[in-house]
Amino acid sequence: MTRFKLYPSILSADFAHLDKQIKESEKCGADGIHIDVMDGQFVPAITFGSPIVEAVRKSTDLPIDIHMMTINPEKHFKELSEAGADSITVHHEACQDLKATLEELGKHSVQKSVAINPATPVESISNVMNMVDQILVMSVVPGAGGQSFIPESLSKIATLSNQIKSQSLAVSIQVDGGINSNTITDTVKNGANILVAGSAVFNKSFSICDGLSKLRGMN
Ligand code: DX5
Ligand code: ZN
Repeated sequence: MTRFKLYPSILSADFAHLDKQIKESEKCGADGIHIDVMDGQFVPAITFGSPIVEAVRKSTDLPIDIHMMTINPEKHFKELSEAGADSITVHHEACQDLKATLEELGKHSVQKSVAINPATPVESISNVMNMVDQILVMSVVPGAGGQSFIPESLSKIATLSNQIKSQSLAVSIQVDGGINSNTITDTVKNGANILVAGSAVFNKSFSICDGLSKLRGMN
């Protein structure tokens, strides 16, 4: 299979042992750490803010990838980038003026990324593809870990991958939601190169290293 990156999502981590779990992820080959920021408005749940990003920054040198499931994301770009974020994703559906939000994000020293929900067509972000470093295709409805991968996501990934190639853009395709050893192969085959996985990495039934190895197809 083509080389791909794995970003464990700490949403499913054991927060009482977050430092240890992040260090174990790094030791076992994680390529980045994905942090889900939820505001209780764009999605029902609330999760983390910049203090957690700062804590994770102290635990690892891996890239910290922030997935903002929030309205008015621009309010928090400064504090999140200062806390140690390397990339920040905003949701297309949460932005009234996506171009302006991405321009604002460009004022901070982070990689720029835009996410689309399962119901949002890829065409809706055609006008910003040349402004971003990464596009996040949500393969579940955002808001919670442990959901099942939505198969229709595969054709969206393939369409995006073709558009990126035909326009010779340097844009990564990240996929988030329901990634496990059964869904990862087709996701990568269709053009994803950064895979986020929560419950397939942080899970009481197996170790973090075993979870990562299984996703890599190593056991
Ligand atoms: C869901 C979050 C994901 C979540 C994925 O809204 O964006 O990052 O942690 O969890 P799994 O991999 O269990 O589907
Ligand atoms: Zn996420």
